[in-house]
Amino acid sequence: MRSSSVGIDEISVAAPRAYLDLVDLATARNIPSEKFTKGLGAVRMAIADRHEDPVALATDAAHSLVFDRERIGFCAVGTETGIDHSKPVASYVHGLLGLPSRARVYDAKHACFGGTAALMAACEWIASGAARGRSALVICSDIARYELGSPGEPTQGAGAVAMIVSEAPSLVEIEVGRSGMFTRDVHDFWRPLHRKDALVDGHFSVNCYLDALAGAFGEWRRENDSSGAPLARCAYHVPYVKMAKKADKHRAGLEGLDDAAAEARFAREVGSSLTFAAEIGNIYTGSLYMALASMLHQEDLRGQRIGMFSYGSGCMAEFFGARVVGSPRGLDACIRNRQRLTFGEYESIRRNEQEGPVTEVETERTAFLGIDAQERRVYRAPGARAISIAA
Ligand code: CAA
Repeated sequence: MRSSSVGIDEISVAAPRAYLDLVDLATARNIPSEKFTKGLGAVRMAIADRHEDPVALATDAAHSLVFDRERIGFCAVGTETGIDHSKPVASYVHGLLGLPSRARVYDAKHACFGGTAALMAACEWIASGAARGRSALVICSDIARYELGSPGEPTQGAGAVAMIVSEAPSLVEIEVGRSGMFTRDVHDFWRPLHRKDALVDGHFSVNCYLDALAGAFGEWRRENDSSGAPLARCAYHVPYVKMAKKADKHRAGLEGLDDAAAEARFAREVGSSLTFAAEIGNIYTGSLYMALASMLHQEDLRGQRIGMFSYGSGCMAEFFGARVVGSPRGLDACIRNRQRLTFGEYESIRRNEQEGPVTEVETERTAFLGIDAQERRVYRAPGARAISIAA
């Protein structure tokens, strides 16, 4: 049976335990700290250690959701932090969480758009009636990395967002089938197979993002202007906080607002979505959904219509509307009780991160333990003893 009310029933954000303060990075790199804190809007960035890979972060984000595992018939992970050419992150997550075998399980990739690709597929699976009453688990998980000392370095981060997608959701209803889309083949950001650090044509990537926003928002307006309430808030893909400000100003210009009106609108309608990003940094696929979580955590927006803008380099963009139906609390666990790294500790993590043989680690969380003799990845499930998923 087709369903018209589909969306996010639950959401949770997971981030690494440690972070680097951007003032410490600026001091070490001999750059005025205001360039990072005011120029980019970054305060701290989460740093993943060798046990916190995309599978571990994704599993932790999903583990803190309260949901009926037997009702999951779809598990998709959006990621651009590849760990294997073939085996998807979603299979590891499925195994570590003990989800039902009667399910569709895969990864979705298109740079930072991969999470939205997975979310929309889940929504359409449910809206079409194919889910037959079951729910979907959608996770976005990434480690954002650039070369040490490069302009991209202060825009790193790591984390995952997990969402249960269901009929008659209790948090956010997505306006399925009414999105505006834009795509174009560009080389603004890429991650060649032989390297972990992304390469980016930084200023060009900012222009690609803004062009894609104009394209996707323009189509969305043509399709939606005469229907639906005005947008009370807007959440953007946030590669760094200032980019969301540039995006909202660009959208305001398309709507004919002057600079003063745009500035006021940004503070009112976008500000609350940026708190987690300022603390965690870019989490690529999950960045838009972390912005949504940040907004929902701080404001009771029940009954309000919001806009959402997803951008993936390469590039693909989607602008869509949603209606907030719930007001969750406690989504800030991802930025509590973290450990501040010294600059030396940060550099040491970055320089000693080769994936080695299996070693145990003391943690309550999911952990990547290493590679076994058959080159299989070995994980410790949350709250469990070390296990090899492939065994
Ligand atoms: N005090 C205050 N502000 C200062 C300052 C100071 N002392 N010095 C510089 N600034 C300001 C600049 O005026 C500038 O502000 P505006 O953008 O408003 O003009 C800002 O700080 C940044 O300065 P620069 O442009 O000189 O910085 P940069 O060239 O070193 O690097 C960057 C900026 C290109 C964004 C770089 O960080 C980068 O390459 N980041 C990664 C790519 C990225 O995030 N792209 C975003 C779009 S692509 C995307 O969204 C996909 C994705 O997730 C990656």
